[in-house]
Amino acid sequence: NWSLEDFIKQKINELREHLSGKKVVAALSGGVDSSVACVLVHRAIGENLLNVFVDHGLLRKNEEEEVPRIFRQVLGLNLLKIDARKVFLEKLRGIVDPEKKRKIIGEQFIRVFEKEAKRYGATHLIQGTIYSDVIESAKSGKKTAAIKSHHNVGGLPQRMDLEIVEPLKNLFKDEVRIVGEMLGIPRSIIHRQPFPGPGLGVRIVGEITEEKLEILKEADDVFIQVLKETGWYEKTWQAFSVLLPVRSVGVRGDKRAYDYVLALRSVDSVEGMTADWSRLPHEILDLASRRILNRVKGIGRVVYDISSKPPATIEWE
Ligand code: XMP
Repeated sequence: NWSLEDFIKQKINELREHLSGKKVVAALSGGVDSSVACVLVHRAIGENLLNVFVDHGLLRKNEEEEVPRIFRQVLGLNLLKIDARKVFLEKLRGIVDPEKKRKIIGEQFIRVFEKEAKRYGATHLIQGTIYSDVIESAKSGKKTAAIKSHHNVGGLPQRMDLEIVEPLKNLFKDEVRIVGEMLGIPRSIIHRQPFPGPGLGVRIVGEITEEKLEILKEADDVFIQVLKETGWYEKTWQAFSVLLPVRSVGVRGDKRAYDYVLALRSVDSVEGMTADWSRLPHEILDLASRRILNRVKGIGRVVYDISSKPPATIEWE
């Protein structure tokens, strides 16, 4: 793909000219767009890009180990991991309202990130904006954005007087993936499904506790493994589990059990604006349900979400 090879060469030169001698920061989550943007900028200015990875404790199982490992060891990036799990959990204690949860997580994220950006003396901020994001905000995504307050490092640039750099602004998603592959980013990152900024915080309906986080991480890991093993992971736009604040009666051994209900969600979509629930084969659902009920302590019932968007949204909160 000659044109994207040219794009990479040109972009690296351009970034090098624009950013040489500058201190640049990025919030790296391991999502496709920010990852490709960061690796591209790293190719241009190396160590002068500080990638901040915030572990807010709402990540999927092992993600806080896996993502930093890949970016440091495989890709050689200058990555700073901040363990902020305690603060986030404390701030979220007792909070049930989804919008409040989102606000707290978003604000806390900015606070943690800002501290590191200041300490580093950053003047520039990398963002993984792609073409569809530009279009969406141009035709005023504001009407739909009001449904859920999406979280990113939004208010930060003005507050800190950071100049924003968006190297992928002219690319479509599939081009971003090809560029990522050309830059040597592993498939596990390039073909990752979208994951919301507030993470598992919006996949635990109601109050977030450490216990619920542990249960959800385990259960979701089992579901995703089943989809990967059966080749369904890359066929769906987004698949995940949601822990409900509902307990249900069952039997374990010869004892009465009273455990949580887990909802499995899988949707097909192009850009997430609309979505149809995935027609996963019954055998796949059966395998996932059996394994979860066998292996995950605390889950007593598994259900499958068959709601499309609209009127349902992809996430439950
Ligand atoms: P909904 O639930 O609104 O989600 O149908 C559409 C897409 O956006 C993701 N999503 C978020 N992403 N911050 C994000 O960065 C958020 O607060 C957020 N809420 C939803 C969701 O996972 C889906 O891909």
